[in-house]
Amino acid sequence: MNAASHIFTDLTIATCDGDSPYGLIERAALVVEDGQVAWVGPEADLPARCAGFASTGFGGRLMTPGLVDCHTHIVFGGNRAREFEMRLQGASYEEVARAGGGIVSTVGATRTAMPETLLEEALTRVDALIAEGVTTLEIKSGYGLDRETELTMLRVARRIAQLRPVTVRTSFLGAHAIPAEFAGRADAYIDEICIPTLREAHAEGLVDAVDGFCEGIAFLPDQIARVFDVARELGLPVKLHAEQLSNLGGARLAASYGALSADHVEYLDATGVAAMAQAGTVAVLLPGAFYTLRETQMPPVDLFREHGVPMALATDCNPGSSPLASLLLTMNMGCTLFRMTPEEALRGVTAHGARALGLPDRGTIAPGMRADLAVWSVAHPAELAYRIGFNPLHSRIFGGTLCNT
Ligand code: NIG
Ligand code: FE
Repeated sequence: MNAASHIFTDLTIATCDGDSPYGLIERAALVVEDGQVAWVGPEADLPARCAGFASTGFGGRLMTPGLVDCHTHIVFGGNRAREFEMRLQGASYEEVARAGGGIVSTVGATRTAMPETLLEEALTRVDALIAEGVTTLEIKSGYGLDRETELTMLRVARRIAQLRPVTVRTSFLGAHAIPAEFAGRADAYIDEICIPTLREAHAEGLVDAVDGFCEGIAFLPDQIARVFDVARELGLPVKLHAEQLSNLGGARLAASYGALSADHVEYLDATGVAAMAQAGTVAVLLPGAFYTLRETQMPPVDLFREHGVPMALATDCNPGSSPLASLLLTMNMGCTLFRMTPEEALRGVTAHGARALGLPDRGTIAPGMRADLAVWSVAHPAELAYRIGFNPLHSRIFGGTLCNT
């Protein structure tokens, strides 16, 4: 298909733009020019100047923006099935971590893996996301925790973007856990490894944003602040794993740096929500981790609504707390576990997911937006969050190009 100019017709389009439910347009058409949406509206109103364009009909199917998975740890070595067994026998996530399991055990497996193996294994998970209409995903480092392996993870993430049509945004997550060789010396790890590696990764063009894990089993707010100061100096946006297991004021700290997002946020309180609202920080909800860790503390969804904090949803795909490579199932969990509406779930994996990555050119369907699109064999957008373990994707379009293989 020639991407230069093309009409897609016979669609219902959930634009995820504006305030009407789903931004829905019935009996709709969309015109793509040079990889961007040039026009969208009722088919009857198609501009006359498009009459000669090639056209593809979709038999009344639903079109949405391409999905955005804005929080993944999809590059890692090994797996943690044994830890899954331990937790089912009663050990908590924190107990496993303190006993040398958890994130640190994946660090061992990632450090010893060949880069090609990391790539190959990550691609199987990326392909599962693409099969469900994902056109943009974020990938974090954070299982290296040494100079060499952090850089390797980020290079693998960049390589994925060369091998697949998806857009990849990288986040440097050197402040993810304290590696065994720095046990009890978190400050030294931040100063001697994390910050110098961030500078080096940035110099190599490997970093789009800087992330951290602010938690009792990871780093305290003042340690995260030191990393964020360097991010600010380098001109990089920040985001933070905050208030997942306890409330250390991480989201407030992130908001004070104008963070793109604060993620997890189950233990967030009203002041934290207000700080996020003021800073325009997105709340990235991760129901896969909530489900896997059998958490009971719900994120403050009502407060987010009240304060107008946009809620994104993401898989958090990782080998420990969220071995989940399905954004559709994530949408279902967002509704069933967090009581989000199916519309909030769809906006959470489109418009708000894009915003959590600082990408204003995608996530909604409107003139001038990048033509990353998904077409589904469903009649109504609520169906996307409703089924479990069922993938109704019909077609995907990356930058205006139909790409179904
Ligand atoms: O987002 N919370 C910290 N980081 C990951 C967990 C990674 C792991 O358990 O390996 C998360 O849940
Ligand atoms: Fe995470």
